[in-house]
Amino acid sequence: MLDEATLGEPSTPVAAERPLGSGLRRETVLSITHYTDKLFSFRTTRAPSFRFQSGQFAMIGLETETRPLLRAYSMTSAVYDDHLEFFSIKVPNGPLTSRLQHIQVGDTIIVNGKPTGTLLLSNLRPGKRLWLFATGTGFAPFASILRDPETYDAFDQVIAVEGCREVDELQFATDVVTDLRRHEYLGETATEKLLYYATVTREPFHHQGRIPDLIATGKLTCDLGIAPFGGEEDRVMMCGNPNMLADMKALLQARGFTEGSSGAPGEFVIEKAFVEK
Ligand SMILES: Cc1cc2nc3c(=O)[nH]c(=O)nc-3n(C[C@H](O)[C@H](O)[C@H](O)COP(=O)(O)OP(=O)(O)OC[C@H]3O[C@@H](n4cnc5c(N)ncnc54)[C@H](O)[C@@H]3O)c2cc1C
Ligand SMILES: NC(=O)c1ccc[n+]([C@@H]2O[C@H](COP(=O)([O-])OP(=O)(O)OC[C@H]3O[C@@H](n4cnc5c(N)ncnc54)[C@H](OP(=O)(O)O)[C@@H]3O)[C@@H](O)[C@H]2O)c1
Repeated sequence: MLDEATLGEPSTPVAAERPLGSGLRRETVLSITHYTDKLFSFRTTRAPSFRFQSGQFAMIGLETETRPLLRAYSMTSAVYDDHLEFFSIKVPNGPLTSRLQHIQVGDTIIVNGKPTGTLLLSNLRPGKRLWLFATGTGFAPFASILRDPETYDAFDQVIAVEGCREVDELQFATDVVTDLRRHEYLGETATEKLLYYATVTREPFHHQGRIPDLIATGKLTCDLGIAPFGGEEDRVMMCGNPNMLADMKALLQARGFTEGSSGAPGEFVIEKAFVEK
């Protein structure tokens, strides 16, 4: 893990009293964790009026001289937490993250109070196994879903799969799962029902390869020691690289899975972790 103090200039001070647009609120940064030179997470205060469902995202960002600079971010914190937590990329020259990566404790973040998103348990038909497939920061919404007791009420088994280029990029997901298994209230359930599979594509690791390939070859379920993927009772949530999502969607549709929505729950739901510009 990188030392906060080595990671550059503090963020630009903001005019705290300036009126914000409709639905926007200021929250205060409580803590920051840097994992690599590309990834960090941070926690902020949470207005009691800010309500969301596990798996949703909100527009968040920073004030600038002219107007708030906002981007979509999944909440990684649990719906019941007093704080909000986010897991972020650092895009070189990215309008938001080239600044956001320098936030310090006590700085202000802007949060739009109207969360949304498709990665909802209610968009899936009832099933027995819930698969959460993520690449990179696509794990973010699943942190919230894994921290929600309703997830374990709804499914007998929850299998979180995180794919990254490099081993260090797995740290956030690994910490979430480790903390859950030790959690005062959820620990026993998570230990019993939650399986975690991490895979790396660009350096040696005990599990290697892209997620769709691991499914197609059967290696994923073989390594986990569970029944093959794709049964009647399997349900899927996916978030990550848009190409991974396209490959996975084709793989699922070839097996007869249908995409769910709020009006018509299905066997899988999708959210992009970012949009290529
Ligand atoms: C529904 C949704 C939810 C999102 N949730 C998150 C989240 O929880 N955490 C998060 O870090 N980002 C998330 N993003 C991406 C986020 O909105 C921004 O794109 C990101 O913060 C970078 O902002 P930027 O202004 O620095 O660069 P941008 O101009 O927004 O992005 C520049 C380029 O950087 C790359 N990029 C951007 N974001 C990512 C990413 N997360 N992973 C890999 N490459 C990326 C893409 O190539 C993109 O074209 C989400 C996006 C969507 C659509
Ligand atoms: N992380 C880095 O070291 C790095 C370096 C330079 C630039 N970038 C840029 O930074 C952004 C974020 O990079 P990132 O590493 O967080 O995200 P990413 O490029 O989306 O990669 C995350 C994981 O998704 C996998 N993946 C990509 N396409 C896939 C597909 N079609 N099916 C299945 N898996 C797939 C990658 O495998 P593969 O490794 O096999 O592609 C990798 O394991 C990207 O825009 C990238 O171009 C990142």
